[in-house]
Amino acid sequence: MPAHAATDVLARCDALAACSEEEGRITRRFATPALGRARGLVEGWMREAGLATHVDAVGNLIGRTAADGPALLLGSHLDSVRDAGRYDGPLGVLVALAVAERLGDRTPALEVVAFADEEGLRYGTAYLGSAALAGRFEDAWLARRDGDGITLADALRDWGGDPGGIAALARDPATLRGYLEVHIEQGPVLEARDLPVGVVTAIAGQTRASLTFTGRAGHAGTTPMDQRHDALAAAAEWIGAVETTARAQPGLVATVGEIAAAPNASNVIPGAVTASLDVRHSDDAVRSRAVDALRAAATDAGERRAVAAHWDPVQANRAVPCDAGLTRALAAAVEAQGLPLARLPSGAGHDGVALAAVAPIAMLFVRCAGGVSHHPGEAVRADDVAVAIDVLERAVRGLG
Ligand code: GLV
Ligand code: MN
Ligand code: MN
Repeated sequence: MPAHAATDVLARCDALAACSEEEGRITRRFATPALGRARGLVEGWMREAGLATHVDAVGNLIGRTAADGPALLLGSHLDSVRDAGRYDGPLGVLVALAVAERLGDRTPALEVVAFADEEGLRYGTAYLGSAALAGRFEDAWLARRDGDGITLADALRDWGGDPGGIAALARDPATLRGYLEVHIEQGPVLEARDLPVGVVTAIAGQTRASLTFTGRAGHAGTTPMDQRHDALAAAAEWIGAVETTARAQPGLVATVGEIAAAPNASNVIPGAVTASLDVRHSDDAVRSRAVDALRAAATDAGERRAVAAHWDPVQANRAVPCDAGLTRALAAAVEAQGLPLARLPSGAGHDGVALAAVAPIAMLFVRCAGGVSHHPGEAVRADDVAVAIDVLERAVRGLG
């Protein structure tokens, strides 16, 4: 089967969609057997394409062409969010593989990378795989625990990885020509402009935090309203402030996507709540001011009820501009297809955020239906994927 055809890329996305932790929906967290099965399929396809493959200490899969010299990294990630679509991540890996297959051993050397964790679903931290290559993997992350209390270090060991080997994965910038990623747009811009692909200008900065509201559990029938320390009421007020703050600032997005109340019973006043926070803006100063305001809002919402609000920083990444030279190569390839050139920023995070520390990065977005992503309804058109393959191939040839 010639994997360069867009329909074959889509068939491979379908095969990866069957690798899931959950029956009937796509969930592939870091260091799980489901992610291992997906990685195994991709490794087989890489070998069929003549790439030399290896899985590194943090679980990234890398397939390299035979050419010598500094490599151009092409790829994306194989992990997913919970109840995901099938293209966020896998599409970029498989388009990269299709291009490597077409180009064979021409220069520049290519490394097709399937990153192990871009979403951060299991440990809250995005970019575990690419952070390792960028030399930015923080040792403290190894002690983070998933929802079942399993540390990242233990999960990685059980999965065949090697926590002690992560530091050595840091790439010397001299070995890298750059990183190019194809990804579904995950937004409505290209569809509205009736364009199959667009070139990314920059990736928005992002702050992730974990909030804990600690009040006091009590009897829902006997505790008067003015004597409660209701942690969920405090969290709910704060979540309202998160939405209001983001709505008031153009371009700011802020989300509480994960929440747990304890003891979580209908006739017990909630004694403790944990909630996630995700804040993004293309201007780091705007994001930083919003984060300060939301931190203060959590304290205020708690104080009104004598509930303690504790803020744990999880991750913060600055906005990352795409490299001018690599972006020119993508733009020239788009125009060579006879297509108008669309330039758009990325509100979503991508592995290039971490890799930018060691290599110039650029991205090509592919139109997706209705702008839908992080949802099982994600859809792309085969003819758009064909354009993405042609554009990436042409850009890589141009860089060679
Ligand atoms: C990844 O998809 C992110 O932007 O959170
Ligand atoms: Mn995603
Ligand atoms: Mn993604």
